[in-house]
Amino acid sequence: MPSKRKLIVGNWKVNPDSAAEAKRIIKETKKAVASLKRTDVVACPPYVYSNLVLSAKSKTPLELGVQNVWTEPRGSFTGEIGAPMLRDIGVSWVIIGHSERRAMGETDEQVAKKSFEVIEAGMNAIVCVGEKVHDAQGAYLDPLKEQIRNSLSKISKKSVKQLVIAYEPVWAIGAKDAMDPAVVQEMTIFIKKVLSDIYGQDEASSVRILYGGSANFRNAPEIITKGGVDGLLVGRESVNPSGFAEMLKVVDAL
Ligand code: 13P
Repeated sequence: MPSKRKLIVGNWKVNPDSAAEAKRIIKETKKAVASLKRTDVVACPPYVYSNLVLSAKSKTPLELGVQNVWTEPRGSFTGEIGAPMLRDIGVSWVIIGHSERRAMGETDEQVAKKSFEVIEAGMNAIVCVGEKVHDAQGAYLDPLKEQIRNSLSKISKKSVKQLVIAYEPVWAIGAKDAMDPAVVQEMTIFIKKVLSDIYGQDEASSVRILYGGSANFRNAPEIITKGGVDGLLVGRESVNPSGFAEMLKVVDAL
């Protein structure tokens, strides 16, 4: 029933240790991507391995993403990377506001600025949101709504086609189990409502929503079908080539 193409994004985080291993993961992933029909796949390795994805890209639709960007396009900001530079080397997706970066002090305001720069440079922004604690009373709902509104404050209605929301409940990241798909569904409905209040229903319905947090090839089909999401933001399983290949296969068959 989802009419949009599915989207699987691999967030490699700070892995693997060597370019040789990165090449192996890319080669295996590329092989798996070649036979997909309904699924877009993005690999977000550490910046230093970007070129390996690009050189492997020519014959397959494996797209290149990165895990962060600076708030300014250029200037005196030692150690940072601007959105136009990423675009220029062939990056088409940028993960913004991952909870691991928010834990280092990244604010909603910076997330908003980064998202604006990414879209301005012509790339797609994967904006991460999610609650730290999921209590039974629903106390997380208002803060989550605020986080979404503030993080998207610089994204206009006409730019939503370059926007993807990654819902990652913080406690489910790096955990043993993913969130219960029935609860993912509740959260997806909530996020769609927030987006619809900001952009209107038509625009909001075009935004793909991903789930992230301990997704693997076993739980992926249920999270997508029961959870009502358009795809997944995948950590550990994305650097496990056999598991990731299996995940792509089962998701594409949904
Ligand atoms: P895991 O899939 O390893 O839990 O990580 C999820 C994540 O943070 C993806 O961005």
